[in-house]
Amino acid sequence: MIEIAPSILSADFTRLGEQIAAAAAGGAAIIHVDVMDGHFVPNITIGPFIVEAVRRATTLPIDTHLMIENPDQYIPAFAKAGATMISIHPETTYHLHRSLTLIRQSGCQAGLVLNPATPLGYVEEAVEEIDYVLLMSVNPGFGGQRFIPGALGKLRRLRALLDAAGPAGRRIRIEIDGGIVPDNIGEVAAAGAEIFVAGSSVFGQPDPAAAVRELLRRGSSITI
Ligand code: DX5
Ligand code: ZN
Repeated sequence: MIEIAPSILSADFTRLGEQIAAAAAGGAAIIHVDVMDGHFVPNITIGPFIVEAVRRATTLPIDTHLMIENPDQYIPAFAKAGATMISIHPETTYHLHRSLTLIRQSGCQAGLVLNPATPLGYVEEAVEEIDYVLLMSVNPGFGGQRFIPGALGKLRRLRALLDAAGPAGRRIRIEIDGGIVPDNIGEVAAAGAEIFVAGSSVFGQPDPAAAVRELLRRGSSITI
């Protein structure tokens, strides 16, 4: 079963609560929040204060994608603000094991994010410390970019790696982020992704609820 995680990066912030409610009405399972610091990525977005507002707007899990340097300094604040899942990029911390452990100690599920050119080997080394892998299918920083085709092969290799080397009795989920649209979601689902971040293809559409329903329909219609 696939899950849609609309990214509020593409939402209309003048009516954020309403937009989140619409996505939820369409069947969104998770709300994805992109946190950017202007250093690790060229864009600056939002902090714990907005996560706290999202927490008040929905009961859905909040997936906080940290694209910030020195994440350890902020992980507890995002957890306190109401994050359910927190993911970090290995390039942003000197001590990845410690940072992932801190996420769990803060009461959240820990995610490891891989940029298009970041090696899958990080997953093998950190497999005991992670609950999900967030695979980037664009270079992080902006919404509305095109899906990088090479991400499909990487996704298949990641699925195989986790099936072979994942921890016994515990499934590590794969989330994919960037350029997901109705026309590619079926193929990406068939390659092994389970959670689909969708920014412009949900909140860039006139009817976010219908957009989520369409992604669910198209993503579920492929038989593997
Ligand atoms: C990019 C972000 C994505 C972004 C996806 O750095 O991590 O979550 O919001 O946007 P779309 O779905 O428009 O590619
Ligand atoms: Zn993201």
